[in-house]
Amino acid sequence: MTQQTPSPEPGALDVRRVRTHHLLEAKRRGEKFTMLTSYDALTASIFDAAGVDTLLVGDSAGNNVLGYSSTLPVTVDELLPMCRAVSGAVERALVVVDLPFGSYEASPEQAVATAVRFLKEGGAHAVKVEGGAWFAPHVEAMVRAGVPVVAHLGFTPQSEHALGGYRVQGRGDAARVLVEDARALEAAGAFCVLMEMVPAEAAEAVDAALGVPTVGIGAGAGTTGQVLVWQDMLGLRRGRMARFVRQYADLHGVVSEAVGHYVDDVRSGAFPGPEHSF
Ligand code: KIV
Repeated sequence: MTQQTPSPEPGALDVRRVRTHHLLEAKRRGEKFTMLTSYDALTASIFDAAGVDTLLVGDSAGNNVLGYSSTLPVTVDELLPMCRAVSGAVERALVVVDLPFGSYEASPEQAVATAVRFLKEGGAHAVKVEGGAWFAPHVEAMVRAGVPVVAHLGFTPQSEHALGGYRVQGRGDAARVLVEDARALEAAGAFCVLMEMVPAEAAEAVDAALGVPTVGIGAGAGTTGQVLVWQDMLGLRRGRMARFVRQYADLHGVVSEAVGHYVDDVRSGAFPGPEHSF
């Protein structure tokens, strides 16, 4: 008689469509999840098919798409079409979108109105907001309105000027405040806490203090998930790279070389050939 090897138990994220409860389940089972930024339909469908669990239509589009020097100028009207493109292209990934600076801080009512636009017009599945316990009422109002919320702590780029530039947050005693902020936002209903540029130990303490999953960028290996900006991890962007980035490809090199060949071919008359002509 042939012995049947038992099929392995499916993971929390072996699902056709990732929902917020799958990320929670991943944390409970000690499994990791992935997040990448995406701002357009083509990258969204590639990342989705490659198995990325969650896509973030980040306001880092300001730096990576729109040519701004920070995320601060990004508007709802600029991010909405990107969100629609990404959410329309995915089959499996959960799509999270940033609420841009100035579109949610004034009141819980403003936060609900903007978040609803992103779900209704942008097709997003969840929104992300930057800030600590003082945004608990905003988070609570959005969750009550049916909007899943990711809370972004640590270095929050929209507060770059208030924080005095790109600096690691949550060092020393500030780690305790990070945990308190995360707890308050979890109590308000956030389904996930994202931490940017915080010491690994502090991020681990936050993850341990919460029932909901965490995701980190420059926050060490102790968070439930990891997120990177795609132009950084695929090497499309050149220049000084943050310490927390690992580059998995050199797209800048690949694209530069290919475009160089195209320029040479057109100048020499090698392109278009008869096979490209009607
Ligand atoms: O906008 C963004 O890309 C982000 C990541 C840095 C987490 O918020």
